[in-house]
Amino acid sequence: MQRTIHGAVLRLVEGDITQQEVDAIVNAANSRLAGGGGVDGAVHRRGGPAIMEETRRKYPQGCPTGSAVITGAGALRARWVIHAVGPVYRDGQHGEPELLASAYRRSLELARDHQCRSVAFPSLSTGAYRYPLPEAARVALRTVIDFLGQRRGSLEEVRFVLFGREAYEQFARALEELLPETQA
Ligand code: APR
Repeated sequence: MQRTIHGAVLRLVEGDITQQEVDAIVNAANSRLAGGGGVDGAVHRRGGPAIMEETRRKYPQGCPTGSAVITGAGALRARWVIHAVGPVYRDGQHGEPELLASAYRRSLELARDHQCRSVAFPSLSTGAYRYPLPEAARVALRTVIDFLGQRRGSLEEVRFVLFGREAYEQFARALEELLPETQA
């Protein structure tokens, strides 16, 4: 499924973020940038030790929740890895939507500042951090749509790589609500 926003493509695919041939992939990191399971585990396993070495060297203080930092991509097909820190979901009343939107926005800014034409995101915070998928999908998509609408810069494609059919369907439903096909 895809939509075009001010000439840029917003695309939803089902798949594995580490396999994407894009300028930058986004990692679902933690604020210590310490590595972990899920996306983070896959990125460091497939990308090799260079990514963690660079992360430790450049960002010894870690990265606050709602923000992101960038490194090279080691052995991955992408050129960059953007390490984004989404919020741990509690009840939705502790600033989670704002922090999630901010993690996406900062990642998009970093991609643009590094002249990326394409960037691929996983669904941040919806695994170990337990953000409910339908709500996370709406926040994620709205943030990307706003960004592409306002200040696209170099970006020609923003891709969401959803892990499994269910995640894909949730994102597809949210995108259809936000940008119905007839208006796209
Ligand atoms: N490609 C795309 N999506 C994936 C992949 C993959 N290879 N592996 C998992 N996912 C999906 C999950 O199904 C989930 O919907 O990515 C989403 C995010 O899940 P997590 O990776 O658990 O990320 P998050 O919820 O943001 O939690 C971050 O988990 O691994 C630790 O170090 C990480 O502490 C941090 C926390």
